[in-house]
Amino acid sequence: MVQKFVLESSETLYNALKPLLFRLTAGEAHARVLRLLALADSSALACALLRWVYRVAFAPHSRPSPEFGGVHVGGVTLDHPLILAAGFVKGHGFTSEAQALAAVERGEDIIPGWRSIPALVGLVEFGSFTRYPRMGNPGVVMWRDPATRSIQNRVGLKNPGARAAAAFLARHKRHLPRTFGINIAVSPGVSDPAQEETEIREAIRLFLDMGIVPSWFTLNLSCPNTEDDPGANQTEASARRLCAAAISELNGRTPLWVKLSPGLADEQYAALLRAAVETGVQAIIATNTLAQPTPDNPLVLGGVAGGRLYASACEAVTSLLRAKLHERYKIDVIACGGIADGRSWASFGATAGQYYSALIYRGALAAAIIEREYEQFSRVDTR
Ligand SMILES: Cc1cc2nc3c(=O)[nH]c(=O)nc-3n(C[C@H](O)[C@H](O)[C@H](O)COP(=O)(O)O)c2cc1C
Repeated sequence: MVQKFVLESSETLYNALKPLLFRLTAGEAHARVLRLLALADSSALACALLRWVYRVAFAPHSRPSPEFGGVHVGGVTLDHPLILAAGFVKGHGFTSEAQALAAVERGEDIIPGWRSIPALVGLVEFGSFTRYPRMGNPGVVMWRDPATRSIQNRVGLKNPGARAAAAFLARHKRHLPRTFGINIAVSPGVSDPAQEETEIREAIRLFLDMGIVPSWFTLNLSCPNTEDDPGANQTEASARRLCAAAISELNGRTPLWVKLSPGLADEQYAALLRAAVETGVQAIIATNTLAQPTPDNPLVLGGVAGGRLYASACEAVTSLLRAKLHERYKIDVIACGGIADGRSWASFGATAGQYYSALIYRGALAAAIIEREYEQFSRVDTR
């Protein structure tokens, strides 16, 4: 009853606010939200309030019981099935590691939302973090397409770098959520295999050495939003090499998940799945965004998320699940791409999912709303 009230009020309020928010460009709205989140991060009271909302909105998943033992996926037990995907809580860009570390030393919130967002939505994958800081792409890098509930971006892996991110999270270790993931990626433009491996190993080591042991690490092999890395690392050989490097660095301390692009051929998904299974990866996230021409300049590509990604993400998940079944692999497939409501979530047939665009189109409690819709129509369908 209280859950219904909170979720309905949240949607009504967000629907009223959305026209105002959407009057701003996607980039401006994002920047303002990040400023608000930094304020909320710094307030114990605000975070306690957000945690209360979480407990009501996500009931009964948030109170594991003998009947609900959690969602088991990729070597992790989750309190509910939907995780906020990488890209939202990823931090500011910096031009150098020294600058990023100096900001941490000054006590700045270099990863806005690190505390407030998990308090409100529960499961979050932080990052992507590259080994060194990145400023990302200049100019307009984010667009909305409300008619299809899509977002397009070419943020270009803007982030504070693994060392500063680890140092920042280590300072706030006491307030980190119980369950969270960290997404890491090779720096765009790096193509020397030895350097790629070193970057991945060092990024993982920096977090672990500073006592930041996430519930899972995700190795992002799929970054279409930078000029210099259109293909990413999605050949079987490259995936095998990077997964093996990450797994050996993790040394069994935490599971590894891998994130792939949409739009690959069935054979390529099968090969990447094989490489993942044989190196010890425990879950595949399918998918990242789909590279398409941007509205401002059709010669420049940006990654599409949301409604316009949904069909490709479904195909990718189906392809991976088919290969998994055929080979009897024991790896999980986590759906990501256009999960917007109970039906789109159910259609993937996956145990767990990740979402980003739903947050923009349905508000902060999108995951709770979608999980509730899913339960409601599952009940109707089985009657
Ligand atoms: C603005 C923006 C930034 C993103 N940044 C990252 C990132 O840094 N790393 C990553 O793995 N995925 C990133 N993503 C992709 C999302 O994690 C997710 O895979 C994608 O948005 C598809 O989910 P959706 O259709 O629910 O939005 C980003 C997406 C958006 C919209």
